[in-house]
Amino acid sequence: MEVAQDNDLLAEGLERVQREVDSVFDAFLPVPKDTRARLVEAMRYAAIGGGKRVRPLLLVSTAELFGVDRTAALRAACAVEAIHVYSLIHDDLPCMDDDDLRHGKPTVHKTFDDATAVLAGDALHALAFEILADDETSSDPFTRSELMLTLGKASGMNGMAGGQMMDMVADDEGVEYDLHSITRLQQLKTGALLAASVEMGAILGKAPPEGRAHLRAYSRDIGLAFQIADDLLDVSGDEAKAGKALRKDEEQGKQTFVTLMGADKAREQANALVEQAVGHLATYGEDAAMLRALARFIVERDR
Ligand code: IPE
Ligand code: IPE
Ligand code: MG
Ligand code: MG
Ligand code: MG
Repeated sequence: MEVAQDNDLLAEGLERVQREVDSVFDAFLPVPKDTRARLVEAMRYAAIGGGKRVRPLLLVSTAELFGVDRTAALRAACAVEAIHVYSLIHDDLPCMDDDDLRHGKPTVHKTFDDATAVLAGDALHALAFEILADDETSSDPFTRSELMLTLGKASGMNGMAGGQMMDMVADDEGVEYDLHSITRLQQLKTGALLAASVEMGAILGKAPPEGRAHLRAYSRDIGLAFQIADDLLDVSGDEAKAGKALRKDEEQGKQTFVTLMGADKAREQANALVEQAVGHLATYGEDAAMLRALARFIVERDR
């Protein structure tokens, strides 16, 4: 019963935030009537529709714990999602994972071209910080600066881009990751942006750093579980449902939890992490129902 309720809650939460994020991106990305049009068309193609919007839902659900205004939370959520979308555009490029399909449609560089895909990623990256720096996101300059600092750290060399580099060199001769290094790779590549989503919700809510410890523990666990689930999907998922090419990690020499410990152990690990994550939410009681449901969705998802 409780699980069925959680599923309904999550489905509604995702559906609502998907609609809201689409409409915020639509408003941010009017197509100019000059030769930049191609750039903005590509940004819209990548950013509107398609994604699950896990990061936005994490951010707005955390913000809700602290009674943050929904419009402000959604702006911050779109900033994180803009970084995520940019990371996917670049991740799919021929010089990276070389993928033709994303969200069930041709990747940006396939529909447009490599140069447009690089620029669309660049411009979404910039847009994220433009949104956060605007006083419509928060009237408090300190809050805006903390949001930008958090997202900057999670996106750069100590976050997503750093993890992507570790991932890219994984197939180089002589690079052999152990469990510790794979954990670090995943935490940077994927965990950092998921953790930033939760942290930014708490920042908007002006939760003091010491009051964020449980949430940080929660997001660290789901961050790792999320990438393990993605790597399991690569091995045993359904391409039509996932909307992207699967069974590529091994062929491309990626090192993941699945290649290191096998699918069964990796799944056990992901499930254990999610239960641990849910445990960290105990202090929030019923208010954290959405974050709990999201944690479970992260390992149960088929896309
Ligand atoms: C896919 O992320 C890439 C990883 C970081 C594993 P998501 O599964 O959140 O991507 P979409 O946006 O929902 O498709
Ligand atoms: C990508 O990880 C993580 C990013 C930072 C974009 P993957 O390369 O495994 O993601 P998919 O499988 O292409 O979505
Ligand atoms: Mg990749
Ligand atoms: Mg990829
Ligand atoms: Mg993958």
